[in-house]
Amino acid sequence: MDSYEWNRIAGAALAALIVLLGLTIITGYMFIPQPLAKQAYVVEGVETETAAAEAEAERPIAFYLAQASVERGAAAFRKCAACHSIEAGGANGIGPNLHGIMMERHAQRAGFSYSSAMAATADKLWDWEAMNNWLKNPRAYIPGTSMAFAGISRAQERADIMAFLASQDPNPPSLPAPPPEEAPAEAQPAEAQPSEA
Ligand code: HEC
Repeated sequence: MDSYEWNRIAGAALAALIVLLGLTIITGYMFIPQPLAKQAYVVEGVETETAAAEAEAERPIAFYLAQASVERGAAAFRKCAACHSIEAGGANGIGPNLHGIMMERHAQRAGFSYSSAMAATADKLWDWEAMNNWLKNPRAYIPGTSMAFAGISRAQERADIMAFLASQDPNPPSLPAPPPEEAPAEAQPAEAQPSEA
């Protein structure tokens, strides 16, 4: 073999290497690992079990109010803002203006035409319990209400919204006292079991 032929072989080898390198770079770009947008493996039942456990362990609303956040409540109120204004003198929309609604009687907003179901509750106060029940499930609290809102299942979110409502009040009502003790969510007395199997 003369040197010319050696050169050809070396050149071919070099070219092959360059192609290989190029491919490695390109495939590298093609397969940049991306974080998964969603969990790949949805484990059946896990989510619902957690939700059920949460619902079961729900504490008195005063517990959640004691750690409520007006800021979080203001953010959550966006769900309501499509139908309700909150500022003083705000216009009634699909729902009535909610300025200073905590501790007021139901269905008193001037110029708003309430459903007869809600008007019939006008002797009741929007205290913490009432508002909690209403926000949890409006149609259960006042069957026949015209408020087309499913409700909020998380107790902490309801408490946050109530803290926000209370903050939008010329005389903000004080929060209820937190429950006296952080009693663990009812340790169920275990059913009498025979001590030996
Ligand atoms: C789709 C529109 C809509 C949404 C969303 C909505 N509401 Fe309402 N709301 C209404 C209507 C309509 C009424 C009047 C109900 C009736 O007359 O039966 C009402 C009534 C109320 C009342 C009673 C006011 C009074 O004068 O006694 C409160 C309190 C209330 N809403 C709070 C909320 C909160 C807090 C949210 C968000 C978590 C919310 N609503 C979301 C439409 C809505």
